[in-house]
Amino acid sequence: MRSHYCGDLDECHIGTIVTLTGWVHRRRDHGGVIFLDVRDRQGLVQVVYHPDSPEPFAVADQVRSEYVVQLQGRVRPREDSAINPNLKTGRIELVGQKLEIINRSKAPPFPLNDYANPGEEVRLKYRFMDLRRPQMQERLQTRSKITSFIRRFLERESFIDVETPTLTKSTPEGARDYLVPSRLHPGKFFALPQSPQLFKQLLMMSGIDRYYQIARCYRDEDLRHDRQPEFTQIDIEASFVSADEIRELTEKMLRYVFMEVGSINLGEIPVLTHKEATQRFGTDRPDLRNPLELVDVDSLVVESGFEVFKRAAVDDQSRVAALLVPNAANKMSRRQLDGCVKYVQELGGKGLAYIKVNDSGAGLSGLQSPILKFLIEDEVHSILQEVKAKTGDIVFFGADDRKVVNETLGVFRNYIADLLEITKDGYQACWVVDFPMFEITADGNLAPEHHPFAQPQCSADELIENPRDAKAHAYDIVINGYEIGGGSLRNHDSSVQRAVFKALNMGQEAEVKFKFLLEALDLGCPPHGGIALGLDRLVMILTGSESIRDVIAFPKTQSSACPLTDAPSEVDFHQLRELRIDLKSS
Ligand code: AMO
Ligand code: AMP
Repeated sequence: MRSHYCGDLDECHIGTIVTLTGWVHRRRDHGGVIFLDVRDRQGLVQVVYHPDSPEPFAVADQVRSEYVVQLQGRVRPREDSAINPNLKTGRIELVGQKLEIINRSKAPPFPLNDYANPGEEVRLKYRFMDLRRPQMQERLQTRSKITSFIRRFLERESFIDVETPTLTKSTPEGARDYLVPSRLHPGKFFALPQSPQLFKQLLMMSGIDRYYQIARCYRDEDLRHDRQPEFTQIDIEASFVSADEIRELTEKMLRYVFMEVGSINLGEIPVLTHKEATQRFGTDRPDLRNPLELVDVDSLVVESGFEVFKRAAVDDQSRVAALLVPNAANKMSRRQLDGCVKYVQELGGKGLAYIKVNDSGAGLSGLQSPILKFLIEDEVHSILQEVKAKTGDIVFFGADDRKVVNETLGVFRNYIADLLEITKDGYQACWVVDFPMFEITADGNLAPEHHPFAQPQCSADELIENPRDAKAHAYDIVINGYEIGGGSLRNHDSSVQRAVFKALNMGQEAEVKFKFLLEALDLGCPPHGGIALGLDRLVMILTGSESIRDVIAFPKTQSSACPLTDAPSEVDFHQLRELRIDLKSS
């Protein structure tokens, strides 16, 4: 039906007669001449209809936004004054010779230009319209390219694409499962996979050696702009490899994709230990484009007259951290500083102390701070020296339980860098390694930091003896503050795997739940390890999108629903009866 895509036309087509199909993006009547912007997936092109071609002119007069048309026209250069440098086809236009309406459209629920902001709910309800927008088309095309490059790369590296089941048993990754009732096994349920973790390990035991899959995963968890209940992983596993080899492969793959898709050189990728990352940045996913760092000042305030500092400094589980923000004193009003304190309190911190250095050579009188009255000159001097504060800087402080300080100042670090616009442009990746095996939950129990299959760096005995200090052969790759991927070496020795389950207090439960895995480990399991990258997050940052919802064709809303299909929805009584499910009212 067409000879070219609208958006692909340029000056090299001048003089050619082309046939196009697409949607009417915009129609303008300029004193007897009608301009149509016609759009397809590649972009849009301007077509001019003159009254001296009465037939197509009459049709052009009838068409409205989002009508589906087929047209024929001759490509000509635009007059200099009409050139649009922001449009791919902006140096040319078509003189319309034929125009046929293939299908009409009712008035669209929202205009399809970049300025219209109809709200997320409406955009998702009419997602098929939203996706017609050039920006959305570009994002989906980039997503397709990224997947294609990844497949090409992994296949070149001898990885085999193997599909794993999605009707399966719970695969623990720390979220709730989506359950699917079984009709043939009343009262029993499949779980949708939170990841293909156990199957990819089983594939290593099957001798597949190098596996990958662009895998759909399901997690019933609270959503954020970088989390969806249904998302896609680039899932990778290999046998007879070290953690360094997995990291090298991942780096090579990411460098290749960034270069091919965006001509971006990812630059040096530093490796931080988990401990270092949380000490210096308050988080295990630091945005290293932000130059600010946390510095421990505990040892300088153990005798402090400021009780808040002193208490935290002498407690093992707490920390007193300082955040030096250079050249901020003149840029921040009192109101903004109060706003910072409020922001940290909203994040869960008790407060945020600060010292404004108006004149570093003038002793206490050169400083401004709500806590100055509690401190002596020597103490202030040593703190400012430790953090290397100069005239014009502000030093912020958090003193509390270590976790609270890290969580609040880690987020505040990004807030203040954004406020002062000191975060660099571009992309900065880093590895975070040596994760603890376990995290301690609010009720004091141990939970896996990632999942229970990561290999400890210590022996099984040491793990049982001192699980809280055990580190895992685990690594995360972080780009611009987003956790893009994570992985680990796995337990190929059943006694070590059993020790992990025991430390998690699930020894007996695991013998039943993971019987198949424990059996397989004893039937010739090779050492193996892998990683999974979040494809949606990768596409989000490569396309500069604000949310992964913008790079998923049909995403769910913040409350995990689909306004387009109205899912989830009630089901027919007969379906429930077949499944032997009885609904209670609450
Ligand atoms: P993990 O749970 O860290 O590891 O997941 C890997 C990556 O998947 C992405 N991701 C998500 N993306 C969007 N929405 C979500 N709800 C979501 N949850 C996770 C993140 C994350 O880094 N089986 C292990 C991997 C392994 O050990 O090999 C796993 O699933 O980018
Ligand atoms: P207060 O004596 O509670 O008024 O606190 C004095 C200053 O210390 C205020 O600026 C508070 O925001 C700050 N502050 C209070 N608690 C903390 C804390 N845990 N960490 C850092 N600063 C704090």
